[in-house]
Amino acid sequence: MSFPQHRPRRLRSTKAIRRLTAEHRLSAPDLILPAFIREGLTEPVAISSMPGVVQHSTETLKRAAAEAVGRGVGGIMLFGIPAERDATGSAGLDPNGVLNRAIADVRAEVGDDLVVMSDVCLDEFTDHGHCGVLAADGTVDNDATLELYGQMAVAQADAGAHVLGPSGMMDGQVAVIRQALDAAGHQETAVLAYAAKYASAFYGPFREAVDSQLTGDRRTYQMDAANRREALLEVELDLEEGADMVMVKPAMSYLDIVADVAAMSPVPVAAYQISGEYAMIEAAAANGWIDRRRAIEESVLGIKRAGAQMILTYWASELAVWLKESE
Ligand code: PBG
Repeated sequence: MSFPQHRPRRLRSTKAIRRLTAEHRLSAPDLILPAFIREGLTEPVAISSMPGVVQHSTETLKRAAAEAVGRGVGGIMLFGIPAERDATGSAGLDPNGVLNRAIADVRAEVGDDLVVMSDVCLDEFTDHGHCGVLAADGTVDNDATLELYGQMAVAQADAGAHVLGPSGMMDGQVAVIRQALDAAGHQETAVLAYAAKYASAFYGPFREAVDSQLTGDRRTYQMDAANRREALLEVELDLEEGADMVMVKPAMSYLDIVADVAAMSPVPVAAYQISGEYAMIEAAAANGWIDRRRAIEESVLGIKRAGAQMILTYWASELAVWLKESE
């Protein structure tokens, strides 16, 4: 018998055989496009740390949503940037607030052809930038915040969101939101829980994207990067509380968590390739240091391979076109 006995290279020899034997494949319906709408804009505004991503006006947001439908993208996740902020984030609860109006506008544009999702969190709406309201001692008050999340969720469901994404990492948030939705007759509105969300430096560009007022960090409510087992606890709690889907966030520095959650979750698993992950690849590509398209495709495929069946990525619409080309 000749040496070597095993030649794995046989299955790598042509593009066709690589395609045939690929274990994982991305497709457009896996992808969810996060999008920002800023109150009062007539023209979109560029986000300098996220080249290619903008704060949308109503018109350009509707166009981006329609484009996503045309490209076969699975969903859109909406974030709102209000003109006025206050201590309790009341613009987030206002049915006429920027996010709730955007949900209605996008829903009117896409109907049921795209899953319309929205962020249930106060950080874009508070003047201190935290994800909840503050207690007298300056800490984020978990239970007082839950009350507001319940109302915010109902306002978003009233506006027409198919799926709500609570991202504030308050204990009990999924249960309170589920209860509030059911009490308001929104039994059909689903919850995609940001179950294992870590305090991360890679959220940096998002702070510019939403004009965040935050000083300091979110380490008293978002998870510690050192912890792996704790992610399973967070997922189990959210499932008990009624989550329909669970998310791990960020993605690239947390692929072990994505794999762990995928192994145990009975419900669909999402991962969020966040703003800093986007910015790193765009910056390196702009410098000519990496091949932009290959790096994007590889990064998103890696998240899928780790076990996420749905991926939130700012490249969703562009990537959908490439995926169609390579079909
Ligand atoms: C909170 C929220 C954040 C992101 C999504 N939802 C910011 C944070 O937790 O600090 C970050 C997304 C990204 O960085 O792309 N509303």
